[in-house]
Amino acid sequence: RGLKVFDRGFTNTACVESSITFIDGERGQIKFRGYDIEYLYDNHDYEEVIHLLIWGHLPSSEEKQILRKKLLAELKAPRSVVDAIRAFPPQFSTGSMILAGLAAFAALDEGTKRLHSQAEPYYMGNMKNTDAAIIRTLAAMATTIALVYCHKRGKKFTKPDLQGSFIGNVLKMMGKEDDGIEKCLERLWILYADHEMTNSTAAFLHASSTLTDPLSCTISAVVSAYGPLHGGAIDLAYQQFKAIASVKDVPYLIEEVKAKRQRLFGFGHRIYKTVDPRTKFIREMIDEQVRNPILSRSPLLEIALEIEKVASTDDYFISRRLAANADLYGALLYTALGFESDIIVAIASLSRVAGPMAHWRESMQQKPMLWRPQQLYREASNPESPLR
Ligand code: CMC
Repeated sequence: RGLKVFDRGFTNTACVESSITFIDGERGQIKFRGYDIEYLYDNHDYEEVIHLLIWGHLPSSEEKQILRKKLLAELKAPRSVVDAIRAFPPQFSTGSMILAGLAAFAALDEGTKRLHSQAEPYYMGNMKNTDAAIIRTLAAMATTIALVYCHKRGKKFTKPDLQGSFIGNVLKMMGKEDDGIEKCLERLWILYADHEMTNSTAAFLHASSTLTDPLSCTISAVVSAYGPLHGGAIDLAYQQFKAIASVKDVPYLIEEVKAKRQRLFGFGHRIYKTVDPRTKFIREMIDEQVRNPILSRSPLLEIALEIEKVASTDDYFISRRLAANADLYGALLYTALGFESDIIVAIASLSRVAGPMAHWRESMQQKPMLWRPQQLYREASNPESPLR
């Protein structure tokens, strides 16, 4: 403590010590707890990877069953949560409905009530309470998104059963049971499961550094995940492809970007300056979907490929080290899997909740430290006039 360093947007500031995820942005490498993401993608499923991230090791088959059983047991849709979501007209924004659903879950949560009614720390240093809250939070997020999905489509919410995987039950609750989709998400969600101090994880941890409850902190994470520069880019990239309609229009879009009249969504990354290692797998999965007769190829894929091709040889992008990120192709894959545009950001944020949970658990074992950045005060030379 002492010397104040100006670091706008925390481009160069580490605020935690963590042994969960390692990212090498120059080499385009991600490791979870020492395992290369390639290895996990090829050999494990989502539940195994969230166990690895949160509890530090790949689970035995017994540990995996216990995790699954606990998660499925918490997939409940309480009346007040359903009512909070149904209070919105179905055409209203998905993000707002998710926030309302999570707030209703937080209001009911036993841990949240205890946290705010007793002086001794409820979670800090208490791994039993922390682990139970992690399970409740993962389940609450999944149930909320399924409820919102059904509400927006006037579909009946299907109660989960105690059979099958976590993802299988998320799809079931959405009324979208499909073995092909489940198998694809089991791998796709590994790629998104954690990304160290990504903006939404940092938003979660910023809130949780006050020692508040994880369900409310998930609201902070969801708000951040919806932002256009972060998770929201997955849908905005897709909208950008749709808006230009044809491969022939790609050079026009690129010129617009270079003139700074548009931002190219799905491009650039704070950490990856050569390659985002997740893109390769997402492309592979899209190619698999193309071969799958049930799922049709999106014509927008050609546009995305062309954007990447043109940008990769253009000096604007080369000199700024801007490459395709995971969000360039993400929405194409979700669309090929039958998810509509209004739910893609939400589904993508569900796949990311394991990360904040792992970091929250890690922080609950460390000494509490309130996050509180500083500012550099500058006197305005020409103050703006008040609102007219
Ligand atoms: N389109 C056009 N220009 C860009 C872009 C882009 N997508 N990204 C960066 N630049 C330019 C930027 O204008 C700046 O130019 P100049 O030097 O002339 O001022 C230069 O590149 C450096 O940009 P920066 O803002 O300093 O870079 P950053 O590391 O702070 O920004 C980013 C990272 C992700 C916010 C940015 O690349 C961006 O806005 N990308 C589009 C949104 C997007 O796809 N977000 C998803 C990120 S990956 C998933 C996730 O983790 O959330």
